[in-house]
Amino acid sequence: MNQHAALLAEACDPYRKAGLFAYFFARGKLGSDPVYRAILERGLLLGRLRILDLGCGQALLTAWLQAAARLCDRGVWPTGWPAAPRPLSTRGIELMARDVRRARNALGAASDVVAGDIRHTDFGTADAVVVLDVLHYMVSDAQRDVLQRVRQALPPRGLLLLRVSDAGAGLRYRYTHWVDRVAMFSRGHSFAAPHYRSVREWQAVLGDCGFDSEAQPMSQGTPFANVLLIAHAR
Ligand SMILES: C[S@@+](CC[C@H](N)C(=O)[O-])C[C@H]1O[C@@H](n2cnc3c(N)ncnc32)[C@H](O)[C@@H]1O
Repeated sequence: MNQHAALLAEACDPYRKAGLFAYFFARGKLGSDPVYRAILERGLLLGRLRILDLGCGQALLTAWLQAAARLCDRGVWPTGWPAAPRPLSTRGIELMARDVRRARNALGAASDVVAGDIRHTDFGTADAVVVLDVLHYMVSDAQRDVLQRVRQALPPRGLLLLRVSDAGAGLRYRYTHWVDRVAMFSRGHSFAAPHYRSVREWQAVLGDCGFDSEAQPMSQGTPFANVLLIAHAR
């Protein structure tokens, strides 16, 4: 098994305890979504001690980071990648009770995954906040409010990793839109329209909320129009 396959297996293995759906969902998502690999390969979370994952789903990011730290310790690590990040805490907040249950069954009852609505739940403080494919679930005023509260939770130079779909991306965006609608419905949310912005609009909102950001394409190998905004608190 090569190192990437070993990492995927290590990260997904805990989900066997959470049922077949949780396990195969983890394999599909961690194995195909380029953002997880990019986080490690580019060292995006290196040195960030308190990580907050908003809309964490079944806490795949936590599982991925824990697996990375274990494999890096064992020396089973892709050549050329920086060392795995070593956060002291990774806290997840997720709206859907069944995802929280899956996360806890997989990662243990002591894992810090809490049920809550990020529009209202206190964020506490963090060194990095990760928000992957979540903000389109809420209307634009709520998106802005969440981003302002994320800024308040971070110190100057604190990091926000925000992945969004780019409403300016033409056909790929249309495809993403429909896949997201179906995904939202199947996750138990209503069949409501998602709320998107173009990357330029997202960067303007981030600027208003106190962040400097750069955008990187983040849907390599998929048909989606996803972009990762790497934002630093001013
Ligand atoms: C597309 S999934 C992404 C999950 C996770 N970030 C990942 O990348 O694996 C979006 C998640 O955001 C959650 N979510 C949507 N609105 C939320 C809210 N207001 N508060 C907390 N979680 C929310 C959904 O329940 C869902 O689990």
